[in-house]
Formats: sequence, structure tokens, C-alpha cells
Amino acid sequence: MNKEHTTAGLNITREQMIELLNEDLAGEYQAIIAYTVYSQVLKGAAYTDIARELEVHAGEELAHAIKIAKQIDYLGGMPGVMPKPVKTSSDAVTMLRADLENERVTVGRYRERIRQAEAMGEFALSETLRAIIVQEQEHEIDLAAALGIDVPPAKEPTHKSGRNPAKNNHASRNAPLL
Ligand SMILES: [Fe+2]
Ligand SMILES: [Fe+2]
Repeated sequence: MNKEHTTAGLNITREQMIELLNEDLAGEYQAIIAYTVYSQVLKGAAYTDIARELEVHAGEELAHAIKIAKQIDYLGGMPGVMPKPVKTSSDAVTMLRADLENERVTVGRYRERIRQAEAMGEFALSETLRAIIVQEQEHEIDLAAALGIDVPPAKEPTHKSGRNPAKNNHASRNAPLL
């Protein structure tokens, strides 16, 4: 197996971890907004249960944001204030698919972040992220069930060799959500 590939982006500095966690925090803000709005505008008898579930997700995403902000502060960074862009739609399936796609990205990002935290010896951070990723996977399951599909595989960030993983992720900030 290509060792360089499997360890890409694993050994990062504290500054890079702060930067990556701030991108994760922007994703949590995005999730709070999306679930707050979608839970109220999802219409139709078929979506009553999932709309209620999305309200629960909104609260869990807020708890994640607070935990990530706490870890950024602990590492000596300043938590950011800008969410990633939120897709708007009046179509239920489009909203649920947007949420599911964001959760896939989130799970992929936290898988990588847990490995990076472990490599740094930041075990409290790793534990915090592990608790969050459990809930993100539950969000995926809820959304996939509402859409009547299987949970798609997580979308792990890709790093081109020789590039700084923290910088590389800037490109995803303005990427389309679907
Ligand atoms: Fe979250
Ligand atoms: Fe989530």
C-alpha cells in the first residue's frame, strides 16, 4: 500500500488543526441554519416525522458547534463566525439531499480530523470528535431513511501530494453543495 497516500494530511501542526477545526465549525453553523429552516418549511404528510427529526438535528449541530469552538479556544485559536453557504429550496427531496450530502462531507472530514488529533496526541479532542461523529452518522441514517435510500459512503477529503492539507481545504469553501 502507498504509505504516502494513507498518511496524507495526517501530521499537521497546531495552527493547521485550528484552521481545519474552524472549517469544521463553519460546517456546523451551516448545519444549524439548514436544519432550522428545513425543519419548518418541509411540507407534506410524508415528511412530518423527518421534519420533527430535523428540529432535533438543529439542536445537536449547535451542541457540536459549541464543542468545536471550545476545542479551538483550548488550542489557542479564535473560533470563526462565518457559516458555509446554505442551499435553499422549496422542494423536500432537494432539501433532504442537500442535508445528506453535507453530512457525508462532515463525516469524512471528522474521520480525518480524529486521525490527525490522535497523531498529535490530542486525545481529548479525539474523544470530542468521536462523540460528534456518532451523531453525524445518525443524522445520515435519518436522512437516508426519509429519502428511502441506503446511507452513501462518507466523502473523505482528498489531498494532492505535496500540498498543505489545511490550505488545500480552502477550495471547498465555495464549492457547490450538490
Ligand atoms: Fe454537526
Ligand atoms: Fe449532522
